[in-house]
Amino acid sequence: MVTTLRKPTIPITEIEQSAFCQTEDELKSKTLAEEFDAGVRWQKLPTEYLKRTPEELDARIAEARARLGPRLVILGHHYQRNEVIRFADLRGDSFKLSQYAASQRDAEYIVFCGVHFMAETADVLSSPSQQVMLPNLTAGCSMADMAHVDDVMDCWDDLHDLFGDTVIPITYMNSTAGIKALCGRNNGIVCTSTNATATFKWAFEHGEQVLFLPDQHLGRNTGLKLGVGLDEMLVWNPFKPLGGHTKEDLSRAKIILWQGHCSVHTRFKVSQIEEARRRYPDVNVVVHPECFMEVVAAADMDGSTEYIIKAVSEAPPGSVWAVGTEISLVQRLAQENPDKTVFCLDSVVCPCSTMYRIHPAYLSWVLDGLNEGVVVNRIEVDEQTRADARVALDRMLAVS
Ligand code: 13P
Ligand code: SF4
Repeated sequence: MVTTLRKPTIPITEIEQSAFCQTEDELKSKTLAEEFDAGVRWQKLPTEYLKRTPEELDARIAEARARLGPRLVILGHHYQRNEVIRFADLRGDSFKLSQYAASQRDAEYIVFCGVHFMAETADVLSSPSQQVMLPNLTAGCSMADMAHVDDVMDCWDDLHDLFGDTVIPITYMNSTAGIKALCGRNNGIVCTSTNATATFKWAFEHGEQVLFLPDQHLGRNTGLKLGVGLDEMLVWNPFKPLGGHTKEDLSRAKIILWQGHCSVHTRFKVSQIEEARRRYPDVNVVVHPECFMEVVAAADMDGSTEYIIKAVSEAPPGSVWAVGTEISLVQRLAQENPDKTVFCLDSVVCPCSTMYRIHPAYLSWVLDGLNEGVVVNRIEVDEQTRADARVALDRMLAVS
């Protein structure tokens, strides 16, 4: 057994998340200096960018973007705020954005408006001549932070010692490139919320057990969809020897779930769905599969951000939608579907604090740099990690 026990820590983004819930008015666009005063984390940038008004930044970004023309592609995840996503050439969920990154070969620069693991994935999938940038390097993901690569390697060594190649590692896209590389080296695969079921089926065709990282909820919800019983799924606690289990317990498990979660999606509760159904008896409830299994069971449907957008956008006029996902996306859905009633299940507005760190001031700074021939905030995965992670990502793209 090789487990080295590290001290449990709550990722800083998790602590911040709980302190971050704001009223809708507080969420309105602020200068970066105002956001800093309000406690939003930031990285250094030239002071002149701090004070520019939203209108000045808008005009400056539009001008810089136009000057770069086809040399640049801006990718934007659906959780980005309106002031940023409006500049995205391509927007999507994690899966769609990874497909874009793998196929967009023309642009010299890819500016990723999303979080760190997404930019890393874009770097792995893009061609070596392309350069990927993340406008704010502190835009991480508290769930990805819950799976430290050293802890995952210890877990993998333990499981491999016990069960050999019969265990297949699957990592959710929301993890570091190092963990994707571990999956690539060990017959494993990457998944997103779009293709989790397909990748689990693939894994069970290639082995007998699955180690799923790092979101226990997506893993459990996917297992349940495939008919795996709760008594066949275990949670691996990285701070306990053998994840807190005996060898016998582990040998009986079909799915071993890493002890990780999303601090945004675990805010949604069954009581909120009950309240929505009391207020609107004909409400449609759609949630992201990072929610608790009880919430997914109480909802009418669940799926990725792209799935949620499609479900609401294609619904008949007059329909009512309660949505269990990040607030920037829910607010945009409500604005873009004025013929429907669309609201967030959680009445206390709660954005993904790390997605929110991409403020237009950083985007403006990155684009100005490119126009001056300076690449800032480049995300570059080392060659070996890149090659191994690519194997696991290519398997996902093929399975999907
Ligand atoms: P999607 O792949 O559904 O866009 O989800 C990404 C994410 O981080 C959800 O919290
Ligand atoms: Fe990570 Fe959750 Fe934010 Fe998605 S919503 S990027 S899983 S913290």
